[in-house]
Amino acid sequence: MARMFSLKVTGVLAAAAFIFLVFPTAPAKAQDLDMKQIFRCQAKDKAGIAHCDKSREVILNNCTTCHVFVAIVVQQFDKAGWDGLFDRHKGRAAQLNDAQLEDIKSYLVANFNPKLEPPEVPPELLKEWTAY
Ligand code: HEC
Repeated sequence: MARMFSLKVTGVLAAAAFIFLVFPTAPAKAQDLDMKQIFRCQAKDKAGIAHCDKSREVILNNCTTCHVFVAIVVQQFDKAGWDGLFDRHKGRAAQLNDAQLEDIKSYLVANFNPKLEPPEVPPELLKEWTAY
């Protein structure tokens, strides 16, 4: 009896391993997303990378209460576009001071602009990003 049970368990494990091997790239769930890849960093120097890291953190902690982060990364605005967006957002992220807002704006201008393809985001999030 014990032997049969362990055979069964082995079978289940083998099936799970098989499914994992055959479908290793199942669609990413929101919680599995790599925010570092999505909130990317074009900079290659140490100071530039530090600026990206800080900006990513500020954005994720302050800019995703009213809409999902997708709204931010799919818009490849030029400088004027980001200026306009930040003007419209003045009262919206009131907890951030001017220096912090300038900081994240310059990060967005450098990493999300018309010269770059938008980063890949899961289709189910793409569908929802206009829900505000
Ligand atoms: C208090 C709510 C609120 C917060 C916080 C907020 N937003 Fe928004 N955001 C909105 C609303 C409302 C819209 C849609 C109207 C608009 O485009 O101004 C929007 C739209 C956007 C868009 C899409 C604009 C377009 O034209 O499609 C971007 C990009 C964006 N927000 C970036 C940000 C960033 C960056 C932050 C953090 C500094 C932020 N948001 C924080 C309310 C908010």
